[in-house]
Amino acid sequence: MEKFPVIDLEPYLELERSGNGNSDEMKRLCMEVSRTLKETGALLVKDPRCSAQDNDRFLDMMENYFQQPPDFKRLQERPLLHYQVGVTPEGVEVPRSLVDAEMQEKLKAMPSEYQPSTPTGPDPKWRYMWRIGPRPSNTSFKELNAEPVIPQGFPEWKDTMDSWGLKMISAVNVVAEMAAIGFGLPKDAFTSLMNQGPHLLAPTGSDLHHYGKEGTVFAGYHYDLNFLTIHGRSRFPGLNIWLRNGEKVEVKVPIGCLLIQTGKQIEWLTAGECIAGMHEVVVTKRTLEAIRLASEQSRSLWRVSSTLFAHVASDAVLKPLGHFSNSALASTYPLMCAGEFVEKELAVINLKGNSPP
Ligand SMILES: [Fe+2]
Repeated sequence: MEKFPVIDLEPYLELERSGNGNSDEMKRLCMEVSRTLKETGALLVKDPRCSAQDNDRFLDMMENYFQQPPDFKRLQERPLLHYQVGVTPEGVEVPRSLVDAEMQEKLKAMPSEYQPSTPTGPDPKWRYMWRIGPRPSNTSFKELNAEPVIPQGFPEWKDTMDSWGLKMISAVNVVAEMAAIGFGLPKDAFTSLMNQGPHLLAPTGSDLHHYGKEGTVFAGYHYDLNFLTIHGRSRFPGLNIWLRNGEKVEVKVPIGCLLIQTGKQIEWLTAGECIAGMHEVVVTKRTLEAIRLASEQSRSLWRVSSTLFAHVASDAVLKPLGHFSNSALASTYPLMCAGEFVEKELAVINLKGNSPP
């Protein structure tokens, strides 16, 4: 069995359409999703509704944006709003492995070939934060009342961000339904909690012209604190993930595919059956090869990741669901509001700056 089989979402959508949601074939497809998420913390999917052309349109616009001069990009910076909208310049986000002493201890115990690259400071990457989907009108965790930020000279901005973001949310929703069925939970066990969640389209931009040296760490070893993270394919490789068995693997995302990663909230809801996937983004030999090819073809040397963080709604309760509440590990995952959970997690990495999930 391939470590990362590509799961085509079309058969699931077709079985749903034809009213065969309870068939054995459906269960088999869903169990492959839950098993892969459990063993690897990652999943490659192909969604007929998210084409390679959609991904390219988004990447083209973001490359064009990130390669603008820093003074232009800083017009979209909102530090007083804790960078919750608009651009976050390079050198602001801090990797958890730099500030979390408990994590540093665990890293020392890892076999040397699986140890992550050591960041020496904040991540040298830019990021843009764009909210996706509706928010609840009545909530105890109101996000700062911040207007979305649209850079001047990008008339296609709102449409491109919203359409790609909503398409990726649709893919996450299908994966969340399949994972719920595969884990023996009701189909809507996860999606009902994600409804009106504080989902964020948060693409990063890394300047490989300036920072394209092998070993440069663009995102230090960390896990995501949301539910599931989804990425379109990046034009430059460099993402390493850690499997459940501790093995470090470089991920190759085929053209037209999406990559899903498990965050801390799915770990909570499954009492650790599925754990938050650890990952890092580093300039590797394959990145250097892609840089060489892009230079030859006079293409942009900005590495854009089209990351979308899908969250459990802030007012929803995080606790082990269904049969997972009987797990021996359930007490490790006490009941709390998702919004409270996110605030606590951010407090750890905010010791030295700001960082999104
Ligand atoms: Fe991440």
